[in-house]
Amino acid sequence: MAASKQLLPIFDKPLIYYPISTLIMAGVREILVITTAHDVEAFRRLLGDGSQWGIRFSYAVQDHPRGLADAYRIGRDFLDGAPSVLILGDNIFFGHGLQTLIDRAAANDGATIFASLVRDPRQFGVVEIDGEARALSIEEKPEQPRSPWAVTGLYFLDENACDYADDVVASARGELEIVSVLQRYLDAGKLSVETLHRGFAWLDAGTHESLHQAGEFVKTLQDRQGLLVSSPEELAFRRGLITLDQLSDLAQRQRQSSYGKALADIVAQERGHG
Ligand code: G1P
Repeated sequence: MAASKQLLPIFDKPLIYYPISTLIMAGVREILVITTAHDVEAFRRLLGDGSQWGIRFSYAVQDHPRGLADAYRIGRDFLDGAPSVLILGDNIFFGHGLQTLIDRAAANDGATIFASLVRDPRQFGVVEIDGEARALSIEEKPEQPRSPWAVTGLYFLDENACDYADDVVASARGELEIVSVLQRYLDAGKLSVETLHRGFAWLDAGTHESLHQAGEFVKTLQDRQGLLVSSPEELAFRRGLITLDQLSDLAQRQRQSSYGKALADIVAQERGHG
């Protein structure tokens, strides 16, 4: 009741840092954060205007949980006719090769979604694909899924998304489903699917169990490799959005935490390799 889930830590950083890192990987530099009237100030306190990471955050309020397609109604003016990437605030993507898939999606026409194998597809949007990963059908939380491929919460959509979203009518659960927008792309023969095979982690931190699992996963990887998973500060530096001095300032400000220390280690390594 008091806090937004996306602000809770997944091990050493807030959950929202993970999807933001994915957006930075996708080359997105202007991000509209859509949240509730109650939570918007907390997001603003955490993320500010984005200049600390060389990007720009704007904020918008969704007064009622109307469904994911509503993002394109709320975001119409922000997008101003541009193509966009939508990511859910609780979706974590991790895997070697993710950058290649993202780059491909960014270069595609129409829409690109990312499908992941899951044990119980009934909880998700489900996309049926043929042998060449071409989409055949797409359904929201079907009782009898036609495939094991869940539609993950990362969507690359062209400039038609806002118009398609305007046409969407509420589903049986009362939501403007993103799947209805994707169906339009499918009908137009413009829905591409990238599949996340073995070796990719897609975690959605939507339940107590998955929140805990995600934390464990990140901790295990980071402890073992000594590399940060999904750090916006590190990514901003590696993409040339901020300088090494700026990264050093960000590390200094968080030096009490293991996260700040990990950033300071990156600075030291970079200076050492100078
Ligand atoms: C939403 C989408 C669903 C997608 C899922 C991914 O579900 O409606 O298609 O598979 O996100 O996390 P929701 O979170 O609304 O249950």
